[in-house]
Amino acid sequence: MLSRILEQRLQAAIASVLPDADVSMATVRPCPEPRFGDYQTNALIGLAKTRKLNPRQFAEQVKAALNVNELCESVEVAGAGFLNFRLRTSALEQCLSEAAAGHHLFFDRAASPRTIVLDFSSPNVAKPMHVGHIRSTILGDCLARVLRLLGHNVITDNHIGDWGTQFGKLLLGWKTRLNKDALARDALAELERIYRDVNAACEADPAVLENARKELVKLQSGDPENLAIWRQMIEISLAEFDRIYQRLGVHFDYTLGESFYNPRLQATVKDLLARGVARESEGAVCVFSDGSLPPKEDPFLIFRDGEWQPNPCLILKSDGAANYATTDLATLAYRMETWQPEEIIYVTDGRQQLHFRQIFAIFRRWRPELANRVKLAHVWFGSILGEDGKPFKTRSGDTIKLADLLDEAEQRAYAIVTEKNPELPENSRREIARVVGVGAVKYADLLPNRQSDYVFNWDKMLALQGNTAPYLLYSYARIRSIFRKAASIGTSQQPASIKLATPEEIALARHLINFGLTIEAVANEYRPNYLCNYLFELSGLFARFFENCPVLKADEPIRSSRLALCDLTGRVLKQGLNVLGIEVLEQM
Ligand code: ARG
Repeated sequence: MLSRILEQRLQAAIASVLPDADVSMATVRPCPEPRFGDYQTNALIGLAKTRKLNPRQFAEQVKAALNVNELCESVEVAGAGFLNFRLRTSALEQCLSEAAAGHHLFFDRAASPRTIVLDFSSPNVAKPMHVGHIRSTILGDCLARVLRLLGHNVITDNHIGDWGTQFGKLLLGWKTRLNKDALARDALAELERIYRDVNAACEADPAVLENARKELVKLQSGDPENLAIWRQMIEISLAEFDRIYQRLGVHFDYTLGESFYNPRLQATVKDLLARGVARESEGAVCVFSDGSLPPKEDPFLIFRDGEWQPNPCLILKSDGAANYATTDLATLAYRMETWQPEEIIYVTDGRQQLHFRQIFAIFRRWRPELANRVKLAHVWFGSILGEDGKPFKTRSGDTIKLADLLDEAEQRAYAIVTEKNPELPENSRREIARVVGVGAVKYADLLPNRQSDYVFNWDKMLALQGNTAPYLLYSYARIRSIFRKAASIGTSQQPASIKLATPEEIALARHLINFGLTIEAVANEYRPNYLCNYLFELSGLFARFFENCPVLKADEPIRSSRLALCDLTGRVLKQGLNVLGIEVLEQM
């Protein structure tokens, strides 16, 4: 990539001025103000500061030592000591010609691939997947795709909630209230119903609650009947989850639910006690602050009533039961021992921030030798809201099921396609509706900053105009139609050396070459919205190019060069949508 070559030249120039400097942090980024150049580095300012040099003078020295003449038409020192690089059109042309010849698609694979465990989706058994799980599934799948495209070794693990106190009520319901016909019709709905019924009965009658508790104890102590029913409930749920994953095109390498770690929980607690990380407190076992962090950063302290108070993490209740935190600690150790990952990423909603801060901190104290080798990241997200700004619910106030949501998306997309293209055969319209519907839901989820809440709005996400999946899919289909047209008039795309003559061609080329930097930024900050915005901008630049520069009507060699630009844009759009988890259509 051009940015990478510039980076290497920059680092060489710095090293020639300051032979002992660590140049690895000297990177170039797209210039925030295109007027000033294509790329920029701010690394010289920091370097100058630590060495008490005058930053602008230092920048001038580095500039003098730079050897980028064949790539840049100008290099300028700006502001406090930035260097701005402006590319030569010939360098752009060469980069695009190489891509057109199939040598790259504007990104590099990681120089040192890492093993990364990605924990996402993770719904709970005997409950339907709801929109809260949609963000984890869609975001997590996108991150897996981006990291894999960059060449990393990604292990996806669906940490389903298949253990816990809800099974007491579910078992009691199964034994006393199960409707076999309903179970055959819609098993998950029936599980949900018995859970709701028993829950209500428990609130009304403490004897029912006691019975549920007894069923739970029996399950926990290995009662064969209860274990068999529990397994059946897991199977039913997994089958339902799988149907949804298939519709979404999401795949997991492993589905190791919470129960997988049950045999390790007691040893985990014992070890935490033995190493002095946890201690007994009022009959329970907890992890407290060790005072090593400033109170503001300490996840085991909370500011209450004007002072910092203990906010311990419970890992064994006084009745001897382990919990969600214990399981996550055992899981973390298992993953480190099994896969030796350099990074573990957890994708859940923002309400679990404290949980993961505590888990990560405990792990650092418990297994420092392992913790030093891994980057632990909690990638959290906000809620999906209804039009009224409250949590997204159905009209009757129930939580919305993911399956119903996808059905509605496809139905709405079908109506739109049918209105626009009534002459297309029904099965094509259905297929277009499926891709557009699922794509629209995913894109609406990936486009906002993940940490903010967003309002779910059908009309907005299905609009053909604006920053939406249908607009991007339409841009792609339009490019494909250029090639259909070319074939129909007997024009084929020649191997082209690309010439960039007009401002629209140059603007498009400058954007194309930043695909790699964009996906790297997505991977580093876990933010797919960067890629959404990149693709939206790409579509806009392409539209401007296509309005202003004739393609099929141009003479050779311009026609082939412009066809190659169309093709490269199409390929980047397709690859970009692919890592967002969105399929493309040849025709819309
Ligand atoms: N099952 C949990 C939930 O629905 C999410 C699990 C996330 N992963 C983890 N290792 N804790 O909230």
